[in-house]
Amino acid sequence: RNLTSISEVYKDYFMIGNAVSTSDFAGDRLTLLKGHHNLVTAENAMKPDSAYNNRHFDFNAEDMFVQMALDEGLAVHGHVLVWHQQSPEWLWADDAGESLAREDALVNLRTHIETTVAHFGDSVISWDVVNEAMNDNPPNPEDWQGSLRQSGWLQAIGPDYIEESFRIAKDVIDQNGWDIKLYYNDYNDDNQQKAEAIYQMVKEINENYAAENDGELLIDGIGMQGHYNINTNPENVRLSLEKFASLGVEVGVTELDVTSGSDGEQTEEELNQQAYLYARLFQIYRDNHEHISRITFWGLDDGSSWRSDQSPLLFDRNMQAKPAYYAVINPDEFL
Ligand code: G3I
Repeated sequence: RNLTSISEVYKDYFMIGNAVSTSDFAGDRLTLLKGHHNLVTAENAMKPDSAYNNRHFDFNAEDMFVQMALDEGLAVHGHVLVWHQQSPEWLWADDAGESLAREDALVNLRTHIETTVAHFGDSVISWDVVNEAMNDNPPNPEDWQGSLRQSGWLQAIGPDYIEESFRIAKDVIDQNGWDIKLYYNDYNDDNQQKAEAIYQMVKEINENYAAENDGELLIDGIGMQGHYNINTNPENVRLSLEKFASLGVEVGVTELDVTSGSDGEQTEEELNQQAYLYARLFQIYRDNHEHISRITFWGLDDGSSWRSDQSPLLFDRNMQAKPAYYAVINPDEFL
C-alpha cells in the first residue's frame, strides 16, 4: 500500500488509463484504479455488440459504465465503433451470411456511428473509430488498400469504409461543437510492415480531407495497442511511434501489456525481463511525450487479464506490485 501513483509520476507527460468493467468500480479494485489512473476504456462494455438488443439500440449497460467512471472522476475513452469482432453481423451481412449491398451496409454504418457518437456525446474524450482493419505483416505495405483485413465491412463496402467511418463520426462531433479525438487503433504495431501500411492509410485519408477542409485532420490519432511480449524489440516500438507522430497525429498507447511466463507462473528471470521491457517502453514514451496523449494498460491485474495465463500486467493476482510496476515508476533507476 501507499505506492507511488503512476498517474502522478506521469502527470506532466500523458494520461494513464486502464481497461475495466463495471465490477472494477468497487473495493480494492477501485482503489487501485483511482490510485494510478485518470482514464478508463471499457474492456468490453462499449463494443458494437453491446449497443443493440434485437437489432434496436440499447445503451443501458454502456450508460451505467460511463456514469460509474465519470462519478469517480475518471475520463472515458470510447472503444469501439467499427470492428470485425464483437459486432452484430447483420450490420454488413444478410441472414444467410452474404454481404449486404454496398448502399445498405453504408446505411447501417452511418446509423451505427451517428447514433452511438451522438448518444455518448462529450462524456467521452476520444473514440476508436476503426479497430484492427489491417492485416498482419502485409507483404506490400505501400498498397494499404491491398493490405486490409478481409472483414465483413470491407467485403460489403470496400476500402473506403474506413474514411467513411471517420467522416460520419467527425460530422456529428463538429455539428455539436464537441472536442473528441478520433483514433485508428491496431495491434502488432511494432511490426514495421504493418506500421507502414497504417502510416500510408492515415496519410492518404488525412491528406484528402485536409485538401477540402483548410488543412484540418480527419483522423486525429493512431492507437498503438501495445500487446507485447518479452521478446518485443523496443526499438521497433520507437520506430513505429516516430513514424506515426511524423504525420502530425497524436499517438495513444491504448492496450498495453507484456506477456511473460506461462500457466500463471513467472520465474524471477521472467519477472525481470518483463520489467525491463516496461522500463524501456516508458523511457521511449517519456522521450516522445509531446506526441503521446495517453498510456492505457489492458487490465488492472494478472488475474483479470485477457492473457491471464501469461501474467502480462504490473500487479499480480493478489494485486501486489510486481517488478514491472517499479520499472514503470522509475525506468532510469530500473535499467
Ligand atoms: O460475457 C460473456 C459471458 O456471458 C459468457 O458466458 C462467456 C463465455 O465465453 O463469454 C463472455 O464474453 C467474453 C467477453 O470477453 C467478456 O468476458 C468473450 O467470450 C470473450 O471473447 C471476450 O474477450 C474479449 C476480447 O477482446 C474479444 O475479442 C476480452 O475480454 C478483451 O480483453 C479483448 O479486448 C481486445 C480489444 O477489444 C481490441 N484489441 C485486442 C484486445 C485483446 O484481444
